[in-house]
Amino acid sequence: MSASNLWSGRFDAAPDADVFAYGKSLPVDKRLLDDDLTASAAWARALGKAGVLKAADIDAIVQGLDAIRAAVHADAALIDRADDEDVHSFVERELIARIGDTGKRLHTGRSRNEQVSVDFRLYLRRRIPEIQTTLAGLVAALAGQAESAGQAVMPSYTHMRRAQPVLVAHMWLAHAQVFRRDCERFDAARAEADVMPLGSGAIAGTAYDIDTAFLAGALGFTRVTANSIDTSGDRDFVAAFLFACAMTMVHLSRLAEDVILWTSEEFGFFELDDSVATGSSLMPQKKNPDPLELVRGKSGKVAGLLSGWLMTMKGLPLGYNKDLQEDKAIAFEAEDTVIACARTTATVVRTLTLRAEVTRAAASGLLLATEVADYLVHKGMPFRTAHELSGRIARDLYAAGHDYTAMALADWRRYSEHFDETIFAAVTPEAAVAARLTPQSTGPHAVRAALGDINTWLRGEHTS
Ligand code: ARG
Repeated sequence: MSASNLWSGRFDAAPDADVFAYGKSLPVDKRLLDDDLTASAAWARALGKAGVLKAADIDAIVQGLDAIRAAVHADAALIDRADDEDVHSFVERELIARIGDTGKRLHTGRSRNEQVSVDFRLYLRRRIPEIQTTLAGLVAALAGQAESAGQAVMPSYTHMRRAQPVLVAHMWLAHAQVFRRDCERFDAARAEADVMPLGSGAIAGTAYDIDTAFLAGALGFTRVTANSIDTSGDRDFVAAFLFACAMTMVHLSRLAEDVILWTSEEFGFFELDDSVATGSSLMPQKKNPDPLELVRGKSGKVAGLLSGWLMTMKGLPLGYNKDLQEDKAIAFEAEDTVIACARTTATVVRTLTLRAEVTRAAASGLLLATEVADYLVHKGMPFRTAHELSGRIARDLYAAGHDYTAMALADWRRYSEHFDETIFAAVTPEAAVAARLTPQSTGPHAVRAALGDINTWLRGEHTS
């Protein structure tokens, strides 16, 4: 335990070792090291502009900060071995150790309350694009499946019951659309973090003539916070980040669930690649989708991180409270989980094999009943009457254990004079798909355009 720390002057006794260790955040907030160094160098320059630091002091401080960065990058154990309270204390102690008393001038007019805010905002600003790149990798895997599915058809489901035939590509693009939306949600979270808090001091603002616009520019922020009291205790930007993570995990879980079902013996629509499946220690025939089950399982944890964070914030009075220190462990865990789950899911999706004959057979039965109704509408029958009649045909076929392929023209005409030989071509899954006309539909032209659109978006997202 260090004999002194950033605040020991006011105290007669050294901190209790256990209690100090309990309050330490360095093992967690060491991830903010680069951001703390970046923000500190900018702060030194702002102090120079305010007439607090001489040019030589600024140079010494900036060089000292660079040396710390290089030293920790060369040997991460330097920070792991340290016994400082948090990353801010680590940097200040290291700086003073390297450049002497000049290092003691850096914290002039600044508080750790705003330091942790600026560091964390910088961190999220640089890490969110990393998450978005990972999500774009998943979207690319989904788009790849859409591409290779070509004109293959499968059933779509509502209420988990066969609904209408769709292109397999349309289904993959549905999931792709969801993760594209998540990327945009992370843009919003990044925009919320993009506000420069320095100048707020501990809570009341700073007594030095700090040029906050200069600091915002130097650190790449587009705005400056408006109220020092609010800034001191504001972690809404962390909640926004956690919401984006939790929503993404919900979507990953739903995709995992679809793929778990569709690769099961009961569906058999896709084959899971051996490289991403696991076996059973007892049952030799098993091929389990463990990675996807883990994705589904971890989604609950991330939702819990969000709701836990909201609970932590809700009782806090204005201004900084130490409770807020918990935000880093929560956000880092959410970040790591989202990235690992998205990466794993992308690998599973990329390596799936479509069993087009199975999906076509599943798309060929009574779920063509809407086509029968639409056929009659085109012949002039009111839709409600056509729906009723098609329902009757479906009920009779269901009772007989048949589908439309068992019907000769005479069978059709027993139900209505409107049926002629064109009915046979109208009640196929391909015809059902081709009949869909709107831009968001499963019509082949619409799906081709949607795939083009997602590929254009992907090119703008710099997928790795
Ligand atoms: N480690 C603290 C945190 O993460 C930094 C701010 C501490 N400020 C204070 N006055 N104790 O929130």
